[in-house]
Amino acid sequence: MRLIKKVTAVSMASCMALSLAACGSSTSETTTAAAAEATEAAGDSSEAADAESTEAAAESTEAAASGEVANKDKPLVWFNRQPSNSSTGELDMTALNFNANTYYVGFDANQGAELQGTMVKDYIEANIDTIDRNGDGIIGYVLAIGDIGHNDSIARTRGVRNALGTAVEANGETDSTPVGTNTDGTSTIVKDGSLEVNGTTYTVRELASQEMKNSAGATWDAATAGNAINTWSASFGDSIDVVVSNNDGMGMSMFNAWSKDQGVPTFGYDANSDAVAAIAEGYGGTISQHADVQAYLTLRVLRNALDGVDINTGISVADEAGNVLSENEYVYNEEERSYYALNVAVTAENYQDYLDSTVTFAPVSNQLDAAEHPTKKVWLNIYNAADNFLSATYQPLLQKYDDLLNLEVEYIGGDGQTESNITNRLGNPSQYDAFAINMVKTDNAASYTGLLSQ
Ligand code: BGC
Ligand code: CA
Repeated sequence: MRLIKKVTAVSMASCMALSLAACGSSTSETTTAAAAEATEAAGDSSEAADAESTEAAAESTEAAASGEVANKDKPLVWFNRQPSNSSTGELDMTALNFNANTYYVGFDANQGAELQGTMVKDYIEANIDTIDRNGDGIIGYVLAIGDIGHNDSIARTRGVRNALGTAVEANGETDSTPVGTNTDGTSTIVKDGSLEVNGTTYTVRELASQEMKNSAGATWDAATAGNAINTWSASFGDSIDVVVSNNDGMGMSMFNAWSKDQGVPTFGYDANSDAVAAIAEGYGGTISQHADVQAYLTLRVLRNALDGVDINTGISVADEAGNVLSENEYVYNEEERSYYALNVAVTAENYQDYLDSTVTFAPVSNQLDAAEHPTKKVWLNIYNAADNFLSATYQPLLQKYDDLLNLEVEYIGGDGQTESNITNRLGNPSQYDAFAINMVKTDNAASYTGLLSQ
């Protein structure tokens, strides 16, 4: 089993290195390995089943091994993009309750957004003597918005506006609409904030903000953000004192295009390795959404469901290998069927501890025993193979945890624009034991569950 797994892992790794897209047309090698594993798993499962306390667990293990589980009953985890209405943010509980083994894994968007806003505000206060570059008494910032229909992006825009005093209410909540440009402060979407530091009152103004979506439709688009800062700086560069971004991919693009040379502090989100390293060169700070915990949870809930054990095994309750998380790292909301990792601010004070974003979280890095937890096949997609956070931080972590959890994961990379580009590559769900899904658009859960229900 070990050998088969290694061979497959190597072939998948090289496949990924060549082209994510090419991996979609799965090789015969993978299929053969799966067949061999299924046979072995069948042998393992009768033993394991005896040891299990509940009958349901025994049933699901055996059924999986003999390939009898209907696709609609297989474990499913949504991650990074929570099934929800992209206009109202309302959770799609049908998708979250697709079957008894359906979960979402993400992070606490509001807690993170508040941290992000506070981090920017603290920086301004601590650097008040030098921050106002043109000395007009206005602290001007620009904001790169990721995806106006993505709840993480919405939360971050709100967090920044709330902390800086520029928020305006719309329908009982902070308006998260992009302003376009607002250099004269007349926008009705935001207002001028005021900040008193050492007895002096400063105005804080959102000079400009826009959704960074490219012409093909990809959101959180770093290149678009680089173009935007070039346009903005060309017309009102002296007024820009702070650059804020909903993520590091866009933030680093703006930093490299303009703010690094100008010495203008730039803030992002995700704690990608390149952004953390840039803190030494003047990048203002970022937020870690504890991707090391999220990537673990993503695969761990599938592992637990496939093993037919309590869903919190290795999460709130230590497993036999000693893997366990604490309440400092995540919260579980049972009603929402959602695990949310907690965020940490990464600034000049602590960035040394975050330089490699792809290191697994030590308390959950113990290898599971292959006899007790036989190899299972998982289909997993990344909505956009070019997304900085998912490709540079999340997926490398998943690839480490899949080994530790004895999961053979087929990684599918989407184009970030069309759901069908991904769903087309879920042609044979019966080949897999479980699914991990990262939608292009948060409203589109049914495109996937529809395929699993056929
Ligand atoms: C990350 C972004 C990323 C997005 C993709 C967010 O949680 O912070 O960097 O682009 O997920 O869905
Ligand atoms: Ca100014």
